Amino acid sequence: MRSVITLLVLLLPMCGSLTLGTQTDLHTESQSTGAAAAAAAVSTQVDMYAELRELRDMVDKQGITLVEQRMTLSFTQDELKNTNDLLNKIVGENDAVKQRLVASETKVEALERVNLAQEAELTAVKTRLAASETEVVNLKKEAAAQTADLRSVTERLVATETDMEYVKKDTAAQEAELTVVKTRLAATETEVVNLEKEITEKPKVAFSAGLTNSGYIESGNTELNLVFTKTITNVGQAYSNMTGLFTAPVKGVYYFRFTVIDRLSSRSMFIKMIKNGEQVMQLYDYDTDGQVSYLSSGVTLQLEVGDVVNMRIPAGYRLYDHSDNYSTFSGFLLFTL
Ligand SMILES: *[C@@H]1O[C@H](CO)[C@@H](O)[C@H](O)[C@H]1NC(C)=O
Ligand SMILES: *[C@@H]1O[C@H](CO)[C@@H](O)[C@H](O)[C@H]1NC(C)=O
Repeated sequence: MRSVITLLVLLLPMCGSLTLGTQTDLHTESQSTGAAAAAAAVSTQVDMYAELRELRDMVDKQGITLVEQRMTLSFTQDELKNTNDLLNKIVGENDAVKQRLVASETKVEALERVNLAQEAELTAVKTRLAASETEVVNLKKEAAAQTADLRSVTERLVATETDMEYVKKDTAAQEAELTVVKTRLAATETEVVNLEKEITEKPKVAFSAGLTNSGYIESGNTELNLVFTKTITNVGQAYSNMTGLFTAPVKGVYYFRFTVIDRLSSRSMFIKMIKNGEQVMQLYDYDTDGQVSYLSSGVTLQLEVGDVVNMRIPAGYRLYDHSDNYSTFSGFLLFTL
């Protein structure tokens, strides 16, 4: 813009000098043509001046127009340059946009691939989700079944615990009972030992003996101590087949019995049991048929150690025996005292 203004300043004076030069030239011509022609010359001069002025104005106008056109051209050139610059810039930007577009397309392709992959994955995930849902349903069923089981087991556990409480009580009672039983067992064992000892140490006394193999035994004028001479049994050796006396070896209760016979033909049979010389019992019979008659009895006696028991027949009586052992005397210890 400054260059345009400078150009205008330079052009304006040039136009002025051109105008003056033209006027001077015209004045000189008019002087040479005369007076008549002076008027015409004057008018022509006026016309020429006017034309010149008009021309000068035209030139001025053209100059201005030229300046204006030059300025316009300069502007246009500047604008063109700017437009070029802008165009270059736009081209550059376009390239950049193209590059970005390519990059974006590449990205879009990549994204599409990713999208495809994601769709495939989504399908897979959906399938797995469906499977998982089925599994969840099954698991729920299973859980429900297990809950029911658990409830049943819990109930049974509670029942069992209750049972256990009873069993514990029973066990405690049984233990107490067992203790009592053990105590009683120990006592019983002691008792058994004592009883065994007692049985082992208990004196064994028993005898049986037959009277004689010689037929009749007669007393004559005095009482006769009967001697049962044939020992059948004599455990403890308390009976003597020499004297007919039983002597108690221990204090206790004894049982004695006898059976004796005779052939009675209008006569009596008589017998006595004696303890320490004193009569304990007596027994008799009278018969007439001459056949065998029996006297038989027994008695329980409490004896001290050394007490003597034996059988007698009064004076004037008899008994009968032979190898068949019709007449026997027996005795044994029931228990000690
Ligand atoms: C009489 O007793 C003794 C001693 O116990 C015995 O050895 C003997 O055999 C007995 N006599 C008869 C005839 O039984
Ligand atoms: C009678 O007793 C004796 C002595 O024990 C015995 O040897 C005999 O066989 C007995 N007689 C009968 C007939 O049993």
